[in-house]
Amino acid sequence: MKKYKIAVIGVGYVGLALSLGLASKGYEINCYDNNYEKIRKLLSGESYIYEENFNEALVANKNKLNFSSKLQQSDMYFICVNTPSLKSGKCDISRIFNAVDVIMRIDKKSPIIIKSTCEVGTSRKIQKYVNKNNGKNPVIFSPEFLSQGTAYKNMLTPDRIIFGGNDVQTLNELKIIFSNFTNNVLIMNWESAEIVKYTANALLATKIAAINEIANLCEKTGAAIKDVSFAVGLDDRIGEKFLNAGCGFGGSCFEKDIKALLYLSKKLKSNLKIFNSTLKANSYQRLVVVQKLKANFDNLKGKSIAVLGLAFKENTNDARESVGLYVVNELIKNLAEVRLYDPEAVNSFINEYEIKFKYKLDKKMFFNNIKQTIKNVDVCIILTSWEQIKNLTDKDIDEANPNMLIIDGRNCLKLTKNVIKIGG
Ligand code: UDX
Repeated sequence: MKKYKIAVIGVGYVGLALSLGLASKGYEINCYDNNYEKIRKLLSGESYIYEENFNEALVANKNKLNFSSKLQQSDMYFICVNTPSLKSGKCDISRIFNAVDVIMRIDKKSPIIIKSTCEVGTSRKIQKYVNKNNGKNPVIFSPEFLSQGTAYKNMLTPDRIIFGGNDVQTLNELKIIFSNFTNNVLIMNWESAEIVKYTANALLATKIAAINEIANLCEKTGAAIKDVSFAVGLDDRIGEKFLNAGCGFGGSCFEKDIKALLYLSKKLKSNLKIFNSTLKANSYQRLVVVQKLKANFDNLKGKSIAVLGLAFKENTNDARESVGLYVVNELIKNLAEVRLYDPEAVNSFINEYEIKFKYKLDKKMFFNNIKQTIKNVDVCIILTSWEQIKNLTDKDIDEANPNMLIIDGRNCLKLTKNVIKIGG
């Protein structure tokens, strides 16, 4: 195996998972981030991201990982910086350009591989920018498909790896390096690779939005969505995954990527019609638990309501675009007495809530365990299927308040008494 030194720029979910995965295959990794706080944490051997196996992999591959806020010269550079949404839906690629500048200050010939999700056309733009600045670095685009909560596992066993670009030597080298993870390494042009990422996320989000709409219909017909999902999922052409109906999708990717796709289609007058509806359907779905609440109580004022699960999904400390943000905002607007619990995502939730609704949540609303959170409440709403939430028992409920109403927004509880599910 050729002993490549590989630089990874940006140590978020994508960069860190990539670094740990490549280090586990024996490559020497130079991890760079301009946020020294993150580097300092990682140098102390601790992942600042809550993600299964990150800490263990950091320890196991210590000798292969260098963390620094000064970029070290390497054989290739992976850019894994974030590309947030601008108001228009367009994604902000300025951090990619900044990363390219940092690379070109020390190396004007080694390959640059962009992993950040970016607008179609970005890789071509970056290649032009590199060449205009007298760089010979080939630019490759490689979309990332990992899911939070299972990022390391997804890194080690991906369904496929995609490289878009035209520099044959770099593409061959990448193919060899990444055949350590899968034989499904696909090569295509820049634009195809860029659009693969958007298509994958738009289709996944649409699958969830569609099954959620069917769930709402099931409720009105006497059908049970679990049976319906299971049955349709057995058709290979549909597939069993991403058919869990519930209170809608959250997270930093689906909505952002669909908005970027819609922005692109508008710009190119291509008029995509389906994905706009996906976003609309999800905005509606995020508040179905509140609708169910209102159908049971004339007034929410002063009602004691526990919300369990503030992360956008289980096994992550990330609350970006979580359903909880929207639900809690509605409850507060309706003057309910809100009690909140999440095992890992409280800080992220407070932060995101403040950014979105310009309102500082009172720390007294948060509780350290489920028992305290649900004590004497009128209602308990489930928004994330963390293991400890899924395992709630009838005894737990009886001890807290046997008459409480439970709204299971993730259809994950085994309880039967007083539980309202999504989709019957
Ligand atoms: C997603 C894509 O899955 C991943 O490939 C891409 O790289 C980034 O975006 P992520 O946002 O981390 O990953 O999580 P994912 O597991 O896709 O879940 C997204 C949201 O959909 C969560 O809120 C989850 O609870 C919800 N969801 C998922 C459902 O409501 N039902 C399902 O059946 C699956």
